[in-house]
Amino acid sequence: MTFSRRAFLGAAASSALLPRRLFAASGAKLKVGLLLPYSGTYAALGHNITDGMKLAASEHGGKLGGREIEWKAVDDESDPAKAPANVNKLIAGEKVDILTGPVHSGVAMAMMQIVRQENVLTIVTNAGAQAVTGTLCAPHVFRTSFSNWQVSYPCAEVMVKAGHKKAALMFWNYSFGQESMAAFKEGYSKAGGTVVKEIAVPFPSTEFQANLSEIAALKPDAVFVFFAGAGAAKFVKDYADAGLQQKVPLYGSGFLTEGVLAAQGGAADGIRTTLHYADALDNPANKKFREAFKKATGRDADVYAVAGYDAVNALAQALDKVKGDTGAQKELIAALEATRLDSPRGRFRFSKAHNPVQDIYLRQVKGGKEMVLGVAMKDADDPATGCKLGK
Ligand code: PHB
Repeated sequence: MTFSRRAFLGAAASSALLPRRLFAASGAKLKVGLLLPYSGTYAALGHNITDGMKLAASEHGGKLGGREIEWKAVDDESDPAKAPANVNKLIAGEKVDILTGPVHSGVAMAMMQIVRQENVLTIVTNAGAQAVTGTLCAPHVFRTSFSNWQVSYPCAEVMVKAGHKKAALMFWNYSFGQESMAAFKEGYSKAGGTVVKEIAVPFPSTEFQANLSEIAALKPDAVFVFFAGAGAAKFVKDYADAGLQQKVPLYGSGFLTEGVLAAQGGAADGIRTTLHYADALDNPANKKFREAFKKATGRDADVYAVAGYDAVNALAQALDKVKGDTGAQKELIAALEATRLDSPRGRFRFSKAHNPVQDIYLRQVKGGKEMVLGVAMKDADDPATGCKLGK
């Protein structure tokens, strides 16, 4: 094992040299870093992840492994160029024991370079970049959200089965959008579909009208997209305003409607998406979670809040096993690998690559509500291409 500069300084600074049993009693707080967007098109996503984490923490009495939590948040602005400085603020500056976040896959790629070197325990709470649990996977990096492939690939077969064999694609042109389309195309050609047009929109632009006119002229059987957050709210309204809602069925990964259904109003009616969560999932954990989140924040929970909630619940289980000793990284990793959660999304466990193994639901918006039509893929396990963990 490499003994990084940070591990050395961190051990001295955070009293990780104390005997295990004394650790929780020593009063050393557990510093949890949040690298999340609190401004820009993904701001609401960052807030819901944060509040999901805080809800879980309050259900554990504000402590994990016996240690009181100290949150250290940085607004990453969903800007990959600023990511190295922002990550360093948390790792070198705040000396966080655990790093969590981000939302944006480009930020995640930059973050991965640093956390792999610095060996800091990291829980990815949204970004779906394949490399996080693929080519750049690492023993100390876990993800409680999803991989790109999991939320995009299953939608292709759904579309072909519905008789939509000619699709146009539209997406924000950065790693997540590109990977999402690649996973979709893999599934679509396998299922016998043909992509007739690909439209890449620069992130975070919401100038959609010209592209939507192009789609109207093309008349594909259906459209598959990736947009999220405030941009997704605008896209769905523009799609309806362009007269496409009744003419060309709209599909996507579920981020298209998560957290923005109310803003989209009637324009969202009919949209079908695939995702590992849905508001209406009928299980006791989801009911309890949604009620508690609403009570704590006054807002409705969504898939982003779930990933934050599960991240802290997974940490709670694992840190209990090591009595709060984050210096015992090997044992802590083994404990995280053994995590089993009754998540609002259903049963939760990590794959060998540390990505959730989870059911992918087919959802449809009807009358302003997200209905669950069924399971599009049972126990979806990301292929984890390029990851050697557990092999
Ligand atoms: C990503 O960049 O990985 C990303 C961002 C927003 C989402 C989903 C994925 O809603």
